[in-house]
Amino acid sequence: MKRFFLLSGLFASLFTATLFSCKHDPFIPVDPDTPSGGTCDPDTVYFQNQVLPLLISSCTESGCHNAQDRAEGVVVDSYESLMTTVEDVTRTNWSKNDLIESLTTSESDERMPLNKPAFTTAQIDLLKKWISQGAQNNSCDEAAGVCDTINGSGYNIFVKPLVQVKCQGCHSGSNPQGGVKLTTYSEIRTYALNGSLYSSVTRASNWMPLGGSRLDDCSLAKLRGWVAAGAPEN
Ligand code: HEC
Repeated sequence: MKRFFLLSGLFASLFTATLFSCKHDPFIPVDPDTPSGGTCDPDTVYFQNQVLPLLISSCTESGCHNAQDRAEGVVVDSYESLMTTVEDVTRTNWSKNDLIESLTTSESDERMPLNKPAFTTAQIDLLKKWISQGAQNNSCDEAAGVCDTINGSGYNIFVKPLVQVKCQGCHSGSNPQGGVKLTTYSEIRTYALNGSLYSSVTRASNWMPLGGSRLDDCSLAKLRGWVAAGAPEN
């Protein structure tokens, strides 16, 4: 078995998943061609870069779907746990897909995230696109290639999607964490111009996104450039 694990992380996770699967064996797609670690293709949705940060910031707070609390047996803090504890994540028949259904159901006492604002259409579309593309455990290197801080750092192309995926899970709704709301341009601009947006992602401990991995150097450079330019709505 040791050799088996050494062979490939992909096979290892498939094996573990099969071992611990519950009533329905989850289908975990493993595609050896899954683009991982290369430059980010704007037409591809990447689990590690886009989907996981969204799930972590929206669903894994204390008492919810983290590895300790396991609310309703559901854990969404990694690809393996999402695939093994939520049924039918790979289905593109959305009403039969438990992940999408839980986020979009009209039953307000069942709609996730509980007691928080619903996922936006843009966030749901991002998840659906990832699923339609095969629901792979893919990733890309956001810092790979040329870091285009001139053309790549605008509000619409860079800041808005970044905040949507990595910050809004905690910083939206009627009771945003830290009292900080980052949903509209003018809210984001306020924190950009008073300096706390950039300092919150660069400080040595408890950096934002809280509990998540640090933004890569290229993203930090783009953010810094955008703030320095006066945080325009470009
Ligand atoms: C998992 C929840 C969570 C996520 C995700 C998150 N934050 Fe926060 N944020 C908090 C909490 C809690 C506070 C208040 C306590 C603190 O400052 O540590 C806070 C405070 C802040 C503050 C107030 C000033 C400061 O420096 O503390 C800013 C600005 C901020 N966050 C920006 C962001 C940005 C930008 C992102 C995304 C890159 C982000 N946050 C993601 C939970 C989160």
